[in-house]
Amino acid sequence: MSDTSIKLTVNGEVVSRAVEPRLLLSDFLRQDLGLTGTHVGCEHGVCGACTVLIDGRSARACLTFAAQIDGSSVETVEGLAKESGALTPLQEAFRDSHGLQCGFCTPGFLMVANEYLRAGGSADRQEIREAISGNICRCTGYETIVDAIAKVAGKAQDDRR
Ligand code: FES
Ligand code: FES
Repeated sequence: MSDTSIKLTVNGEVVSRAVEPRLLLSDFLRQDLGLTGTHVGCEHGVCGACTVLIDGRSARACLTFAAQIDGSSVETVEGLAKESGALTPLQEAFRDSHGLQCGFCTPGFLMVANEYLRAGGSADRQEIREAISGNICRCTGYETIVDAIAKVAGKAQDDRR
């Protein structure tokens, strides 16, 4: 099958490429763009390691064809930190709360947590658990991930008061 031309915004930069229609977004990001922060675990939509934001909503890069999202805006974990390399408050909270161990799941958790926080998500632990319920972590037992997200959500709540 012939290649198809796509134009996307990835972490704020416009990217144009000719891709095979069956090329997965996860492979496009990792292999074509070198954005290897998007991890690939199960490759069939179960683990959440490949989660990115497409037009602000979390999505499985391993279940999405690159050609399918022509014209969209994609955010990956590489786009979170500032240009200076400074970590975001959420990334700092993950580090400080020990919300990661091996780190394989972390990019996916950071993306869903960003979606949750941008939507004004609260520090309620049950709500956070529901928000991250599509992502699997084999190391932490989740408590410290919830701690990290709750810390940032709680601060945002205080700032809104
Ligand atoms: S690699 Fe995509 S959900 Fe597991
Ligand atoms: S930190 Fe290892 S899988 Fe989550």
